[in-house]
Amino acid sequence: MFDLSEEQKMIQDMVRDFAQNEVRPRAEQIDRTHEFPADLVKKMAELGLMGVEVPEQWGGAGMDPICYAIAVEEVSAACGSTGVILSAHNSLACAPIAKFGTDAQKEKHLKPLASGQAVGCFGLTEPSAGSDAGAIKTRAELKGKEWIINGTKIFITNGKEAKTCVLFARSEDAPGHRGMSAFIVPTDAPGFAVGKLEEKLGIVGSSTAELVLEDCRIPGENLLGERGQGFKVAMFTLDGGRIGIAAQAVGIARGALEAAVAFSKERVQFGKPIAEFQAIQWMLADMATEIDAARLLLWRAAAMKKAGVRYSKESAMCKLYAAEAAERATTKAVQIHGGYGYVKDYPVERFFRDARITSIYEGTSEIQRLVIANSLLKE
Ligand code: CAA
Repeated sequence: MFDLSEEQKMIQDMVRDFAQNEVRPRAEQIDRTHEFPADLVKKMAELGLMGVEVPEQWGGAGMDPICYAIAVEEVSAACGSTGVILSAHNSLACAPIAKFGTDAQKEKHLKPLASGQAVGCFGLTEPSAGSDAGAIKTRAELKGKEWIINGTKIFITNGKEAKTCVLFARSEDAPGHRGMSAFIVPTDAPGFAVGKLEEKLGIVGSSTAELVLEDCRIPGENLLGERGQGFKVAMFTLDGGRIGIAAQAVGIARGALEAAVAFSKERVQFGKPIAEFQAIQWMLADMATEIDAARLLLWRAAAMKKAGVRYSKESAMCKLYAAEAAERATTKAVQIHGGYGYVKDYPVERFFRDARITSIYEGTSEIQRLVIANSLLKE
């Protein structure tokens, strides 16, 4: 039987306790006010969650990818906004610096992120480069000892609060993905500005920002990884990021299932709790089965990451399935609540809206299918 290790169970208990007692009571207010939950980020830092997989030497908790998946699921089961803040910070900012950074870069940029003193973001997407990530136009030119960066990034999670951005720009004349490099951009660098903040359908407590770089100057040593290898840095990062989003989707779906189970036992129609009707039982059964299937795919991808083998296909599979299962589960949870599912007095309305993004960001479901099919056809 697949089971968690003692360490993984300990993390599950600790984060579940935190999420249910401290995050859940704040979720409704975060959703109503669209506020960034700085207090919860501070508490997650105290629990070591802002650098889950970062080695202790660099300020992190040094835990494995399964612990990370568990942490994001537990937080997201209480609040999808807080879940994505945690996920984008860990997967998209800490992970690429931990993997590709020099010791000097880790000392300067990773330590504050992993210890939670600073929040991180990932600047890849542009107005005309979403799924086609190799089509970015932002340019970086090395002039003397500095990189000068010009361009615009959009849809950047944590973009408003971040102190450090792992950002991608064209530094070489080569076309498509071959001309890209990755950079560590401090958000207080001259020429860096936060632009438009998006108003969204869900996950409204996390910021989604435009980043504007106008002759933005960063030190030459802030190149992350090798020159011209930025696309691979991005793809490596997104393999891990998709574990985070799958975990967010599993968490949101589980939150919706738990709410639906509780509601169906309390709600009386035709003289008995609606949980006694098979129509409701079948919906609950399908939700629970799909959530467990999604979690097993998620833990398999995380276990492969831990084992150090290529897991791009498995990561795409878990993200694809978990996101679509979350959409189905939250739709059913709203249906079980009837009219009460459509109003804000019950959490399923929020879970329904929060689930929708999981099949879009960090690669749409269509891109996940492409990654899976490409891998199958190469095997
Ligand atoms: N790991 C390492 N290398 C990889 C890789 C991976 N997972 N995937 C591809 N590569 C390498 C390939 O081997 C290839 O290398 P060579 O040039 O040496 O042959 C190179 O990268 C190009 O690969 P492809 O030809 O497959 O590239 P492509 O242009 O066809 O694109 C894609 C592939 C899968 C469609 C990719 O562009 C992609 O993943 N797009 C989606 C982007 C995405 O997820 N964006 C989300 C942004 S983050 C976000 O959502 C914001 C947030 O804040 C939450």
